[in-house]
Amino acid sequence: MSAKDVIVALDFPGKAETLAFLDRFPAGEKPFVKIGMELYYAEGPDVVREMKARGHRIFLDLKLHDIPNTVKRAMAVLSRLDVDMVNLHAAGASEMMRAALEGLRRPDGSRPLLIAVTQLTSTDDTALKRELLIDTPMAETVLSYAQNAARSGLDGVVCSPLEAALVKERCGADFLTVTPGIRFADSAVGDQKRIMTPERAGQSGCDYIVVGRPITQAADPVAAYRRCVKDFLG
Ligand code: C5P
Repeated sequence: MSAKDVIVALDFPGKAETLAFLDRFPAGEKPFVKIGMELYYAEGPDVVREMKARGHRIFLDLKLHDIPNTVKRAMAVLSRLDVDMVNLHAAGASEMMRAALEGLRRPDGSRPLLIAVTQLTSTDDTALKRELLIDTPMAETVLSYAQNAARSGLDGVVCSPLEAALVKERCGADFLTVTPGIRFADSAVGDQKRIMTPERAGQSGCDYIVVGRPITQAADPVAAYRRCVKDFLG
């Protein structure tokens, strides 16, 4: 079992809504949180500093993709925010991924975990073939991108919980799988298509599960978070 923690996706439009949500948790309970583009672009780096000061671990989900030098310099800025996990698009290729790692390294030798996005789950086989001109089937493309990320020294990939075991088989047991698409057996599916319960995810080689609406939209978010942690970590 590789299950490590539940990451709560803070998919809120601004700081006020985010703090209102986090203030529901007792003072000593600090979930690992994900800050994505919406919140980051609305509030800037201050929202990251504030979450950090409140004692949260942070996955900053900005999915960088640019030339190696630009990504290296941007990653150096993000690393100084003292976040715990960041990501990029594996489509930027190995030179960009290695440059990102260099940029993330802090003077004391530490760095945030670096996770790759392989193919976005919104890209289907038709778009892959007709628009991206990739003839290799989706599943193989995802695994091949994951292998490139592993060879470049990255720590893991974002993937479906249904792909986690296969990723570990190809890239090694220590290569992290960070998996959205999590739903309780009795919660609304919403727009997610390939879903798994926290309990099954815990048994399926997922290291971190990223959970948004089943927690943020619950009548009792703290109870939903605790249920998720209990189910996932066993
Ligand atoms: O609300 P829900 O649990 O579906 O939220 C899942 C989170 O994971 C969202 O922040 C979403 O953007 C993110 N995500 C995803 N699927 C991917 C990549 C990221 O759902 N393939």
